[in-house]
Amino acid sequence: MSDSLKLDRIAFYGRTLAEYVSIYDLNLPSLRGKKVLDCPGGAASFTAEALQYGIETFACDLLYGGDMTAVLAQGEADIAHTVERVAEVAHLFVWDFYRDAAGLRTSRTNALRGFAAHYPQSRYVNAKLPTLPFAERAFDLVLSGHLLFTYSDRLDYDFHLRALRELYRVTTDEVRVYPIQGLDAKPYPQLPQLIADLQTEGLHAEVVPVPFEFQRGSNEILRLKRS
Ligand SMILES: C[S@@+](CC[C@H](N)C(=O)[O-])C[C@H]1O[C@@H](n2cnc3c(N)ncnc32)[C@H](O)[C@@H]1O
Repeated sequence: MSDSLKLDRIAFYGRTLAEYVSIYDLNLPSLRGKKVLDCPGGAASFTAEALQYGIETFACDLLYGGDMTAVLAQGEADIAHTVERVAEVAHLFVWDFYRDAAGLRTSRTNALRGFAAHYPQSRYVNAKLPTLPFAERAFDLVLSGHLLFTYSDRLDYDFHLRALRELYRVTTDEVRVYPIQGLDAKPYPQLPQLIADLQTEGLHAEVVPVPFEFQRGSNEILRLKRS
C-alpha cells in the first residue's frame, strides 16, 4: 500500500468557495469590500463566487491568458488524474468534507465549470511566481493554495523563499498558504528554516490551525502577517 499521493504534473484544478472558506478559515462578511488575490487560482471558482459576497477578488496563474480551450480540457483531464490517484491512497485522507471520491470529483468539477463560465474577465491575470505583476500592497489578503509546499518535491527552497516574499510584497495585511505538507503528507522539512529566514527579513510568519483537513494532518496554514 503506497504511503504517498503521486501526481505526475502540477494539476490545473481548483476549488469552490465552500472549500476556500474552510481551508483558509475565512469570514466572508469581514472581507466585504476587501481586495483578495488567489495565487495561483488554477481552475478555482473562488474568484467568481466570492464576488457575489462583495469581495473584490482577483486570481493569477501561469496558465491564464489567451484562448483557454486547451487549458480547460487539461483541467478536465487533471480532475480525472487526481481523483483516480487520491482514490488509490484513500486511507491517507480524511473524508469528512467530500464523503467519497465521487464527492471529490463533483467539487472539483463544480469549481472548474464555475471558473470556466467566469474566466473571460480581466480579474484573471497571467503571472508566474516568484514574480507578480502587481503593485506593492495591492491586496488586503493573498491566498496561495496547493502549489508551494504541495509540490515541494519539484520546487526548491530558493523558489519558496522568493515566492513568499513576493506574495507578501503585494499585500497590505496578510498571506495565507495551504497546505504546509507535500504530497507525501509530511510537513515541508525546511519550514522552520523558511520561517526563520522570513522573520530575519522582518516578516511575521507563523503556522496557524484551520478547520479543514483532507490529506491527513493538513489542517494548518502558514500565515505571513504585517505587524
Ligand atoms: C492545484 S492548482 C491550485 C489552484 C488553487 N489555488 C486551489 O487551491 O485549488 C495549482 C496551480 O498552480 C499553477 N502554477 C504552477 N506553477 C506556477 C507558478 N510558478 N506561478 C503561478 N502559477 C503556477 C498551475 O498552473 C496550477 O493552476
